[in-house]
Amino acid sequence: MYKFLIQPILFLLEAEKAHRFTAFCLKTAFRIPGIKALCRWSFSFEHPSLEKEVFGLRFKNPIGLAAGFDKDAELINELSCFGFGFIEIGTLTPKPQAGNPKPRLFRLKKDQALINRMGFNNKGVENAVARLQKRQSKLIIGGNIGKNKNTPNDEALSDYLQAFETLYPWVDYFTVNVSSPNTPGLRALQEKEPLLALLHALQEKNLQKTKPKPILLKIAPDLSNEQLDEIIEVVLSSQIAGVIATNTTIQRENLQTPAKLIEKIGSGGLSGQVLKDRSTEVIRYLKENSQGAFPIIGVGGINAPEDALEKLKAGASLVQIYTGFVYQGPAFVKRITRFLARSV
Ligand code: FNR
Repeated sequence: MYKFLIQPILFLLEAEKAHRFTAFCLKTAFRIPGIKALCRWSFSFEHPSLEKEVFGLRFKNPIGLAAGFDKDAELINELSCFGFGFIEIGTLTPKPQAGNPKPRLFRLKKDQALINRMGFNNKGVENAVARLQKRQSKLIIGGNIGKNKNTPNDEALSDYLQAFETLYPWVDYFTVNVSSPNTPGLRALQEKEPLLALLHALQEKNLQKTKPKPILLKIAPDLSNEQLDEIIEVVLSSQIAGVIATNTTIQRENLQTPAKLIEKIGSGGLSGQVLKDRSTEVIRYLKENSQGAFPIIGVGGINAPEDALEKLKAGASLVQIYTGFVYQGPAFVKRITRFLARSV
């Protein structure tokens, strides 16, 4: 029904408007008694073979919602009925910010892909805490944190620390996002020296807590093997819990969408099917070259249940989806979990 009825209607709207309209419909529908239970019943699939313990957390299944879909934690109660094993909110910055001018989200239908240059539009970390306090389910929530656009890179640490401190009581794990292509200069923080300083400081703060939480690093798919070697060194040296591979790419190769249209859309991060192979390659590289020293969450281009299995086989302990959820619809997680339960 999603592909033949709902998606064609949603796709009549500009991409970001469709996202906001979907959020509004979900919020409204969930006020009707019984909808929550119906949704859970229709879209969830549980099986003991899907359960997994990773970095000290017990996941009911390995499929998560990737960061960016519910940046402000406005939909966690609704989204927790769609079968996910975990949801990552954010990227959240200490102060609210508007993000880049619109339009900033584009569909490439022929490629089942998206290009976005949202630019960390979010209502700030304190606003998210107010939402997280109303969390109704025990579903694992990750907090993806970043820096404000106006904060220079040499002061970025204080933004990450502030977001970490504010969110700390309310999320189960953290993701340090230094890989969005849409905040100028952000990805320079992936270089060895600044990254070491950032992760050491965050982990030091974390270890002062009575119950430290897993901290993960989210990386870009556009790093070279030498840079990936450095990422491995930094993760091991800072003793953070693991890596999320990958964010969106700035590459525009192998697209079916006409080059003229791609040029017209302009800058931004590309996600969806075309990202799949590169993201899996990064997962495999990290797994092999670290001798499996830390868990990896695999994300990028999962658009069919087989794609999730491929990432798990390449070395991911868990996976996340975003663009595939937009193109495949609300039953996508259930399709993947049923497939995995049959395959493992
Ligand atoms: C994203 N993604 C993202 N990642 C992140 O760490 N912080 C963010 O704020 C966002 N925002 C965001 C917005 C939009 C519109 C998209 C499409 C994506 C990246 C996302 O979490 C994921 O890493 C990539 O999209 C690759 O996965 P998919 O979409 O190919 O499954």
